[in-house]
Amino acid sequence: MLLAVLLLLLARPGSSVAGRGLTARTLPPCYSADLSPASERLVSAVGCTVLLTAPALAASKAVSWEHAAGPREGVIVSYAFDRPANTSRPYENRTRFNETDFSLQMVLQQGDDGLYRFRSEEEATGWFQLRVVEPLSEPEIVGNSSVKAGRNTKLVCNVLEGKADLYWWKKNGEVLLGSDRIQFVDNTTLCIVKASMNDSGYYACVVRNAVSQNETSFLLHVQNAANVVLPMSLACVVIGSLAGIFVWCRRRDRPCRGGCRWGA
Ligand SMILES: *[C@@H]1O[C@H](CO)[C@@H](O)[C@H](O)[C@H]1NC(C)=O
Ligand SMILES: *[C@@H]1O[C@H](CO)[C@@H](O)[C@H](O)[C@H]1NC(C)=O
Ligand SMILES: *[C@@H]1O[C@H](CO)[C@@H](O)[C@H](O)[C@H]1NC(C)=O
Ligand SMILES: *[C@@H]1O[C@H](CO)[C@@H](O)[C@H](O)[C@H]1NC(C)=O
Ligand SMILES: *[C@@H]1O[C@H](CO)[C@@H](O)[C@H](O)[C@H]1NC(C)=O
Ligand SMILES: *[C@@H]1O[C@H](CO)[C@@H](O)[C@H](O)[C@H]1NC(C)=O
Ligand SMILES: *[C@@H]1O[C@H](CO)[C@@H](O)[C@H](O)[C@H]1NC(C)=O
Repeated sequence: MLLAVLLLLLARPGSSVAGRGLTARTLPPCYSADLSPASERLVSAVGCTVLLTAPALAASKAVSWEHAAGPREGVIVSYAFDRPANTSRPYENRTRFNETDFSLQMVLQQGDDGLYRFRSEEEATGWFQLRVVEPLSEPEIVGNSSVKAGRNTKLVCNVLEGKADLYWWKKNGEVLLGSDRIQFVDNTTLCIVKASMNDSGYYACVVRNAVSQNETSFLLHVQNAANVVLPMSLACVVIGSLAGIFVWCRRRDRPCRGGCRWGA
């Protein structure tokens, strides 16, 4: 990844001015992203505003800001001093170019990830890498809120918006550690083997990426097996006289599989 970026940087055409790079920073109130200025690379979030600051370049009749993402390369705004700045369509209502210091403010969208530079007719800055990450919404926990003691159960944490780099679970506010009975599978799934009443409680799934952290909690209630075995078996015996339904009745609360290694 880093190598790819490096190669991309080296492969870019155009003269670049060593030591005269541009700087960028995320503006408040976007506290989900790092607000300190960066000179080569910045990670920011969709919806945040970044300020790109231009260094002084050799005297010129025109300047412009450029964006490159993969094979696409384009002009964001160009400015010849005798005319109003010309902003290209995709940036129209979300950028502000300062005609005095040539800085550029931009409200970020998903597609803004990529490389940026500032240029005059004579020279250009090096490419600046901007990584634009979508903040995570509250994840969704899918699972059964009521489980009988002795059964296996699982909770699955789904991220609905954005991409999580890290997942972890908490139980009643404390980080949940793995064990023979508590297993984490595929980052997103918590498996509880042979649940006991002690496993009842609030389970929270916490998700994180470079610009955000979010979580959701889920109340799991493990029922004392004695309280439910009687009515359940009773129901099964009554309906059991109708062959076939008995099987369905027994199977209804079989443990979920898929992903979890329930073991022996
Ligand atoms: C603005 O820039 C676009 C392309 O960069 C160009 O086609 C257009 O003619 C320019 N408009 C003005 C008023 O300079
Ligand atoms: C920008 O805003 C103007 C006025 O609100 C609107 O007419 C125009 O279509 C918008 N351009 C883009 C690219 O959204
Ligand atoms: C443009 O930059 C100048 C110099 O940094 C600053 O004084 C001015 O307030 C800026 N204008 C806008 C509209 O931000
Ligand atoms: C979590 O996501 C919700 C939207 O699903 C959002 O309103 C909230 O601000 C997020 N929390 C954090 C700490 O980012
Ligand atoms: C899950 O975790 C593993 C190792 O911790 C990691 O390599 C992998 O990229 C993660 N997958 C997702 C989708 O987060
Ligand atoms: C349940 O928790 C209690 C108190 O924390 C402990 O003494 C007991 O051994 C636990 N039982 C099981 C089955 O984990
Ligand atoms: C929850 O339990 C019911 C019955 O015990 C079962 O049919 C269902 O598949 C379970 N749902 C999940 C998400 O495991």
